[in-house]
Amino acid sequence: MKKITIAIDGFSSTGKSTLAKQLAKKLHYIYVDTGAMYRAVTLFAMRSGFVESGKVDEEALEQKLDAIELKFEFNSSLGYAEMFLNGENVEKEIRTMPVSKNVSQVAVLEAVRKKLVAMQQAMGIDKGIVMDGRDIGTVVFPDAELKIFMTASPEKRAVRRYKELLDRGENVVYEDILENVQKRDYIDSNRAISPLKKAEDAIEFDNSDLGLEDQFQRIYEHSLRVI
Ligand code: C5P
Repeated sequence: MKKITIAIDGFSSTGKSTLAKQLAKKLHYIYVDTGAMYRAVTLFAMRSGFVESGKVDEEALEQKLDAIELKFEFNSSLGYAEMFLNGENVEKEIRTMPVSKNVSQVAVLEAVRKKLVAMQQAMGIDKGIVMDGRDIGTVVFPDAELKIFMTASPEKRAVRRYKELLDRGENVVYEDILENVQKRDYIDSNRAISPLKKAEDAIEFDNSDLGLEDQFQRIYEHSLRVI
């Protein structure tokens, strides 16, 4: 079997990471969650005082980009890699609402995207990788053998995210999450650099009403056709 690159893009909370993790496990591929990388840079910017009321001090962050070390470390008991920022496990903190509220504003910045895209391309050099994000099929790996684009209604996605955060013990309000999902969709789709859009050769899945197990089976079958 030849090793391929699988690019999974789509709107926030469409179940991209669940699907990508399942596929990677089944195919014995590496899984990379690029959203975690943008979230970790955002956490760094917030801790450094470079973000205020959703506004990012682009110059200050750009000057400190070299001081940001990002690393994924596989946790065998969890079965997936966790994100480390300058040696600290930030996996939980990067998923919280304050980070979600600022991440899209950090992800529009050219210098940030340049650094992270270069890292992502290096991780995929040997193929055998499933990567999820917003620009994987369009910018990071335009030659990926399999590209998936995932959508679902904002309400369905907000409900999923709401349940996820409640399960993790966060004190969240549904309306806040719906607003965050819609705002991120808007910023991610309308930014000047690498906006979220379906690659022409991507297969689109709307999972508003499709069970995640069904969806996994269909996409797994697609992957077997190209491997
Ligand atoms: O995937 P996740 O929802 O964790 O991504 C968080 C944010 O990171 C997205 O809303 C988007 O602004 C940014 N992102 C991006 N490009 C990627 C992955 C994530 O701009 N490849």
